[in-house]
Amino acid sequence: MAPTTRAVIDLDVPGPTISRHLYGHFAEHLGRCVYGGFWVGEDSEIPNERGIRLDVVEALRALRIPNLRWPGGCFADEYHWKDGIGPREDRPRMVNTHWGDVEENNHFGTHEFMDLCEMLGADPYVNGNVGSGTVREMSEWVEYLTRDGDSPMVALRRANGRDEPWKVPFFGIGNEPWGCGGNMRAETYAELARQYGTYCRDHGDNVLYRIAAGAADDDYHWTETLMKAVSCLGCTREPKQFFQGLSFHYYTFNGQWADKGSATEFTEDEYYETMAKARDVERVIKGHAAVMDVYDPAKRVGLILDEWGTWWNVEPGTNPGFLYQQNTLRDALVAAVHLDAFHRHADRLVMANIAQTVNVLQAMILTDEQSGALVLTPSYHVFAMNTGHHDATALDVRLLDGVATRTVCTPRGEEELETLSVSASTKDGAALVSLTNLDAQEDTRVVLDLRGRDVTGHRARILTAPALHDHNTPTRGDAVAPRDHDGVRTHERGLVVNVPAHSYVTVRLELA
Ligand code: AHR
Repeated sequence: MAPTTRAVIDLDVPGPTISRHLYGHFAEHLGRCVYGGFWVGEDSEIPNERGIRLDVVEALRALRIPNLRWPGGCFADEYHWKDGIGPREDRPRMVNTHWGDVEENNHFGTHEFMDLCEMLGADPYVNGNVGSGTVREMSEWVEYLTRDGDSPMVALRRANGRDEPWKVPFFGIGNEPWGCGGNMRAETYAELARQYGTYCRDHGDNVLYRIAAGAADDDYHWTETLMKAVSCLGCTREPKQFFQGLSFHYYTFNGQWADKGSATEFTEDEYYETMAKARDVERVIKGHAAVMDVYDPAKRVGLILDEWGTWWNVEPGTNPGFLYQQNTLRDALVAAVHLDAFHRHADRLVMANIAQTVNVLQAMILTDEQSGALVLTPSYHVFAMNTGHHDATALDVRLLDGVATRTVCTPRGEEELETLSVSASTKDGAALVSLTNLDAQEDTRVVLDLRGRDVTGHRARILTAPALHDHNTPTRGDAVAPRDHDGVRTHERGLVVNVPAHSYVTVRLELA
């Protein structure tokens, strides 16, 4: 008999709202993410509208993609937006020094990105340049994007064919300033974030949510320094908030940075090491949130994980600077446990962006360079199974009667990895429970002890595959795809769910 855990869920005790923006995405000018991924150009044989791939748009609309961060990443801090407007053939070329040292022709620029967001129905998250830009350049970009009426930047936008201003809710003030964004110290960047944030104006009724570039992993000093700088402490007569959110980045990989392991070839021990790193994101979220609570107990400042996901060695034979990797069931389970952690900390964590949407790192979509075929990855399916959590009310889940663990050797020493993760939310007369069994071999049973409301029906879905390294390809696009799960039975406390080894299960509950 599989081990049994009891999950107590009070269906009538609301937690914080799980922002749909926790399901955000990231598209950088890197490898084949923008060029070949989103953008094929108007002359391509691949079906497109104004140069944007229609199959990619359709797949992401099905995920209800809430926002898209662009143009980087490291690229953001060497991107000069005026190079990416006007007639395409006249746009200056540049070298993408961070990613592959390849030519960037600037054919995909501001108008193309905003067009893409409109096609996707996603909110734009534009990331400005602090590392090699100027305050003026950033300020003018915001004016170009969002101002109405008459002004030099409005006139320039109109000359380029766009009359109405766009709505831009999210604006990033640089990226990784501690590294590729300028190798700054926290104190230096904190001053710049205040300065640049000041000149990112709210034009008309566009209200910017300015995001200061935050820490790497658990660099809490960086977060504390930004929290000290976020506002004019003690300015009760004229309170100011120079930025509304601050970010951090957290990637999952095995071993050392120089050799992160293969996306598809790994041992069971390496799989568990990956999962220990993935689950550790929760400790890191808690750490940043605790620092923020000291300076901002009312939670006015949002925490944003605007880069997360797996980072493996590139696929053999591909450009090392293009970060192209396959995506297996292991990646899907990494996504599932991250999303559970996000739900549990939705009171402070208001946005997250998986890196990156197409053809780079933990992608939702892979496109075949030769045939152009599109493949939905296992990670895509986890996002699809979780759309019911978007803007839902989080429900607390208490796990009782013991949770199975595995002892895992990690670079941080031996760790006990809990192999079951559960989160839940409610919305529109229904609840969604997400359950992940990380154990590579053993099934587990979870009794859903459902309290506070009557459950009138349920439907379960499962994502799994025979092997952890199974993945989708153009010729086997559904090797890892969700299907209905008949492993749910009624129980005196509610329901009992069989969660097979290495699987992800969602149970939708209809509530009376
Ligand atoms: O997502 C790839 C890179 O990872 C981004 O450009 C950078 O911000 C991070 O280091």
